[in-house]
Amino acid sequence: MSHEIVEKNVGLMAIIIVIVISFGGLAEIVPLYFVKDTTEPVEGLKPYTALQLEGRDIYIREACNACHSQMIRPFRAETERYGHYSVAGEFVYDHPFLWGSKRTGPDLARVGGRYSDEWHRAHLMNPRDVVPESNMPAFHWLADATLDGGDTAAKMKALRAVGVPYTDEDIAGAADAVKGKTEMDALIAYLQNLGTAVSSR
Ligand code: HEC
Repeated sequence: MSHEIVEKNVGLMAIIIVIVISFGGLAEIVPLYFVKDTTEPVEGLKPYTALQLEGRDIYIREACNACHSQMIRPFRAETERYGHYSVAGEFVYDHPFLWGSKRTGPDLARVGGRYSDEWHRAHLMNPRDVVPESNMPAFHWLADATLDGGDTAAKMKALRAVGVPYTDEDIAGAADAVKGKTEMDALIAYLQNLGTAVSSR
């Protein structure tokens, strides 16, 4: 009988559906805020340097994350190819996360240190020069764009407000740390740091 009341009353049904779904969601999400594994940085995790941080913003601007995930799943096929699976504590200083799931290209969660800076430079200038079958687009203009560091300190302050432990010295030195570097330098500095807090192999 009572079921019939719900079935004949769309508004009531909508409210009850929302309540049921919220309980399911809360039961999954709320515990994550209290589990240390997901809220504490892994040992040795450092905030991005000023240059790496600018590189990360270029990574986002150029939509590298549209083709590359940064999330190694705990399956043998993935860990043998990419290294240790990703753990939550590696990402606590990432705002926003760039995990993704679209893999037109390989996962980059542990690409740091896998290639030399020169390899990355050649690859970004024209991927086909180092990987003949590559269909990744070239990003050669990054080598001509110079950073002025005008808003680097402001970005670091904003990140500090959400919990990234930048010191006053980090912020004071931010503009000088990136001045005169190219966007290519910054992007490579970011790539070379990816996943290095957890030793992968
Ligand atoms: C249209 C999709 C696409 C976009 C956008 C893209 N890539 Fe790629 N990327 C690929 C593909 C496919 C490969 C594999 C072939 C190769 O190595 O070039 C690759 C390979 C790579 C590799 C080598 C990874 C490895 O483990 O061998 C790096 C590093 C990389 N991309 C960085 C970037 C960066 C940084 C950007 C943004 C500036 C970017 N990619 C944008 C498709 C893309």
